[in-house]
Amino acid sequence: MALETVDLKPKVGTELRAPREEFLRGDHAERIRDLLEERAVLIIRGIHFNDEEQLQFARTLGEVMSLGGQEIFKISLDPKTNPGAAEYLKGSLLWHIDGAMDPVPSRASILTARRIPATGEGNTEVANTFAAFQDLPEEEQRRLEKLRVVHTMAASQRRVYPDASEEQRRRWEEHEPKVHPLVWTHKSGRKSLVIGVSADYIEGMDLEEGRALLERLDAFATRDEYVYSHPWEVGDLLIWDNTVSLHRAAPYSPDSGRLMHRVTIVGEEAVA
Ligand SMILES: [Fe+2]
Repeated sequence: MALETVDLKPKVGTELRAPREEFLRGDHAERIRDLLEERAVLIIRGIHFNDEEQLQFARTLGEVMSLGGQEIFKISLDPKTNPGAAEYLKGSLLWHIDGAMDPVPSRASILTARRIPATGEGNTEVANTFAAFQDLPEEEQRRLEKLRVVHTMAASQRRVYPDASEEQRRRWEEHEPKVHPLVWTHKSGRKSLVIGVSADYIEGMDLEEGRALLERLDAFATRDEYVYSHPWEVGDLLIWDNTVSLHRAAPYSPDSGRLMHRVTIVGEEAVA
């Protein structure tokens, strides 16, 4: 059968419909990979994959990331479900690219909803920075393409912990900054903005001027028209392309019971 697609908003987000065996066999994998880079986020409603099926589906799209032998990560703010990670995950409430400091950021992540808050909070939100860049005036696109952006641990951490001690701030500075082109030209030819909470300043530009530019680009790329916000139902699956987007979780309370299982697809190209 053909893959049925329904665009959720004109510039971001597409729902995929096909029999579940076809997703598991990878019948539509090539089309899904391309759609992902174009639309930034794809949804399959009510597929109810278990961990094994989620991994099988992920492997049709790319190489699954394994950290310490673990391929499925439980995402929750509840310290009982996820000891130690709850603090770290606070950062996920701000617009970001995963692994913006890594040589090759991950390609995509696949989330499935296992438990959702009764209150309807905790949407997952994805902003299409490919679509946003495309909409900028051509003259500005050319200007931005010449710039390099420096991503730092300190930039993301100071926004999560504005009251950090001197000692904490020193530890953030120990992480090597990562310099990227501000505009990522993908092998496919698509171009996207390399921005978000970890983007600290523009190389060779006055600090404040550079930060004002980054703030303006963040605000532009996360305007409503570029953002798809997913209200979860148990059994839904969401894939976001980490290379053409920013994402965040909408706030939810740590004791809401929200539990997502996540699989990450390894990156395929360095930012260039
Ligand atoms: Fe993230």
